[in-house]
Amino acid sequence: GFSWKLADHPKLPKNKLVAMIVLDGWGEASPDKYNCIHVAETPTMDSLKNGAPDHWRLVRAHGTAVGLPTEDDMGNSEVGHNALGAGRIFAQGAKLVDQALASGRIYEDEGFNYIKESFANNTLHLIGLMSDGGVHSRLDQLQLLLNGASERGAKKIRVHVLTDGRDVLDGSSVGFAETLEAELASLRSKGIDAQVASGGGRMYVTMDRYENDWEVVKRGWDAQVLGEAPHKFKSVVEAIKTLRQAPGANDQYLPPFVIVDDSGSPVGPVVDGDAVVTVNFRADRMTMLAQALEYEKFDKFDRVRVPKIRYAGMLQYDGELKLPNHYLVSPPLIDRTSGEYLVHNGVRTFACSETVKFGHVTFFWNGNRSGYFNSELEEYVEIPSDSGITFNVQPKMKALEIGEKTRDAILSGKFDQVRVNIPNGDMVGHTGDVEATVVACKAADEAVKMILDAVEQVGGIYVVTADHGNAEDMVKRNKKGEPILKDGEVQILTSHTLQPVPIAIGGPGLSAGVRFRKDVPSGGLANVAATVMNLHGFVAPEDYETTLIEVVD
Ligand code: 3PG
Ligand code: CO
Repeated sequence: GFSWKLADHPKLPKNKLVAMIVLDGWGEASPDKYNCIHVAETPTMDSLKNGAPDHWRLVRAHGTAVGLPTEDDMGNSEVGHNALGAGRIFAQGAKLVDQALASGRIYEDEGFNYIKESFANNTLHLIGLMSDGGVHSRLDQLQLLLNGASERGAKKIRVHVLTDGRDVLDGSSVGFAETLEAELASLRSKGIDAQVASGGGRMYVTMDRYENDWEVVKRGWDAQVLGEAPHKFKSVVEAIKTLRQAPGANDQYLPPFVIVDDSGSPVGPVVDGDAVVTVNFRADRMTMLAQALEYEKFDKFDRVRVPKIRYAGMLQYDGELKLPNHYLVSPPLIDRTSGEYLVHNGVRTFACSETVKFGHVTFFWNGNRSGYFNSELEEYVEIPSDSGITFNVQPKMKALEIGEKTRDAILSGKFDQVRVNIPNGDMVGHTGDVEATVVACKAADEAVKMILDAVEQVGGIYVVTADHGNAEDMVKRNKKGEPILKDGEVQILTSHTLQPVPIAIGGPGLSAGVRFRKDVPSGGLANVAATVMNLHGFVAPEDYETTLIEVVD
């Protein structure tokens, strides 16, 4: 039968402290002035790279290596941390939704049939991120769903858009809005009353995460549900074009707006009897809105009016909380994660990051599961992030504090594994501010140093890696790798990349003879879990992706 017990590693000892450091958004790319990691002073990461050649390598962090549909899909934190923690590759939300739409299965399952009850007499609202980034959502999936729902009886449809500029180029929201408008016009020509009803920039409206700032969700609620916003327009394209003219405006932070009819009334507030679908497949930035839409008892902000709706998520965003109750596509079932195994084998675990990445080393790492496996053996520490600012203003973020807390956890002797996410490269990289991202990379490197110093003191082992690329490339490039110019200027890349990420192992506790194998050249993030289990003195379960290390005598 099944057992949580892991076999002892034939050669590697137990009870060595292992520090698992994940640099968020830290890929490997050629030296270049838009490679902020290269430009920044990063002596610690440089020394790992230039140290023992068989203690440093690259691993794949994008595309099929992390369960995404194609090799053109950049990596992201959800799929990256899922792979790191689970040690196996699961088909992820993006792919599961593609499959369900292609097979038509999405229209047969419970979730769609539940919202369909509203089609005859009420409105179907679709709320989500409007881009082709493929990280949280994809516009082509929304287009398919619009058509599929109208073919199955939806007569009145309202779309509530969130503009991106974070997983895609800033400014691209105009084109996406035009594409969406054309789709809605074609539905209207078939007699379906389909329109955009509201909108706003994803970082200012709706898509907060880990409860960093509920005001963000409230702004969305007011526009989407109540039909109230400071800006009113006749069309989404006009809205975005106009709001983008404000100085410093960008897609990520556009203010909330509603679309109004000729008499000035909002075209799509949510009312009793309506159906609502949040079309993002990724969980972290949808669970707060999902709570507001679903929970009867709710005290995070004043909802003013709580319509009785049929609500479904594109996916279920939290399996533990069963949030939401109804969903169109079943999420990947990520079971038997390395964290759960290790805890069952007595490994005492500490996990830490600041708010904006806290769920990454806990929830995502543990297979999209909230809370502890065993609170006696685990401690998760969240350092509050600055809220209400863009991180280029504070590019050091809480790296130092994460470093200090983790150092203290290591020196306390109370843990066998410490696991951290250092967010700077990613969070500042997403702002597109190249200078600030250089500062961010330096700060991340300093945090790594603090942790490695503590590992040194206690005779432990370190594993330093990253979840996907971001800060190592800040411009859009052609196939040859040259920056693409538009009106004589480079286009700043705020998104993640397709680059591989480094992984380094070392520390005084690393047994002599441990080195990276040469026979896993296409190794990816999913190979890290078995590697870490080995470093804790265990053999990984058989169905885990193979370890990256071997022990030579
Ligand atoms: C975000 O949600 O901030 C971006 O879309 C993706 O960033 P992450 O995958 O690094 O969290
Ligand atoms: Co990111």
